[in-house]
Amino acid sequence: MTTWILNGLTVNPETGELSKKHLKIENGKVAEWADGETAPDTAGAETIDAAGKLISPGFIDMHVHLREPGFEYKETIASGTRSAAKGGFTTIACMPNTRPVADSPETVRLVLDKAATEGAVKVLPYAAITKNELGRELTDFAALKEAGAIGFTDDGVGVQNAQMMKDAMAQAKSLGLPIIAHCEDDSLVVGASVTDGAFSRKNGLKGIPNESEAIHVGRDILLAEATGVHYHVCHVSTEQSIRLIRLGKSVGVRVTAEVCPHHLVLSDEDIPDSMDANWKMNPPLRTPRDVEACIEALEDGTIDIIVTDHAPHSAEEKAKGLERAPFGIVGFETAFPLLYTKFVKTGRWTLPFLLRRMTSDPARVFGLETGTLAPGSAADVTLIDLETEKEVDPETFLSLGRNTPFAGWKLSGWPALTMVDGKVVWSEQA
Ligand code: DOR
Ligand code: ZN
Ligand code: ZN
Repeated sequence: MTTWILNGLTVNPETGELSKKHLKIENGKVAEWADGETAPDTAGAETIDAAGKLISPGFIDMHVHLREPGFEYKETIASGTRSAAKGGFTTIACMPNTRPVADSPETVRLVLDKAATEGAVKVLPYAAITKNELGRELTDFAALKEAGAIGFTDDGVGVQNAQMMKDAMAQAKSLGLPIIAHCEDDSLVVGASVTDGAFSRKNGLKGIPNESEAIHVGRDILLAEATGVHYHVCHVSTEQSIRLIRLGKSVGVRVTAEVCPHHLVLSDEDIPDSMDANWKMNPPLRTPRDVEACIEALEDGTIDIIVTDHAPHSAEEKAKGLERAPFGIVGFETAFPLLYTKFVKTGRWTLPFLLRRMTSDPARVFGLETGTLAPGSAADVTLIDLETEKEVDPETFLSLGRNTPFAGWKLSGWPALTMVDGKVVWSEQA
């Protein structure tokens, strides 16, 4: 089985220059790259016209919520992976805060089985650190690894007890798997829905202080140093956390970190006075100063990768208003266009830089074999239209979630076709 992707563009990682190339795929793997100026022999092969489109490795998103089992009204493995494919993602790692929580081998296997039969893209499951994510009792790490979990996290909540976290790290270390931490000290967050900042003050709302995140980051970096585990910080949002991660890296602690598109392009000052809950997520949108710190940290490598924290909720749930609605926004279908438009088109980042942070860097951090289109690699490919400008229209999302603050934004850099192991899993033409 041979497929040629014809007349696409590739970007030189050093110079950022685009050049015309054909890509040959054989039996689901990258076979060869051919010079775009010569027509290859495509006899007997399937062909895909990629004229004018960038050929990129499929994006990797190491932090997503698929909601199945238990919250199928918000998202399913089928709808979530289709949404991912439309966003150009070919590998995604899903969080265990489902119902039941993925704290048992059965639930991890259920996610993997469903993903294999109903999923459009590759799904890597995380398992919970504590039973039911309650922070009281560790799960059976060895059994969860055996079932297919690629790391441990209580995402959605922080692990409040330091000894519990240290024990978790020691176990994860002995199994060679990472700890992925949602950093939040509950004693510093009581019933707040937005950051402590201009918006909370203006509206007389309680604020979530930056320290609630950074205190866990600092604590956990010390525990990671003591245990030697690979410690990965979820959705970094504050200048203080970044300072601590930078320090941890500088002294050789095995700490890595991620940031979400919304924390790079929005601050609390952008939240509309209507108090629309589509601007509510955890961690919250922080101050402009934190936003700039996140951008700089991603640029200098203190933050390693970009993730979406795709967190679908129903319209009814989000209609409850800023203070009562659940935290979270969808992310797959806007992530790349948003960052391409706001950072690459404006000249702040190069295209190779953005691509790296969404492909090869996550692969490196988590030891995955994808994220590259070198010959021999899996043909996980995304074709991107870098020109056409389109408005974000949540009604067109393949996600069941419509909860986005980016409705109506005019963006370019839209994925046009996504392929997993050489098979087209989504195309704008279909
Ligand atoms: O915004 C968020 N949504 N942050 C979290 O920590 C949890 C997530 C969710 O599960 O909805
Ligand atoms: Zn989280
Ligand atoms: Zn999350």
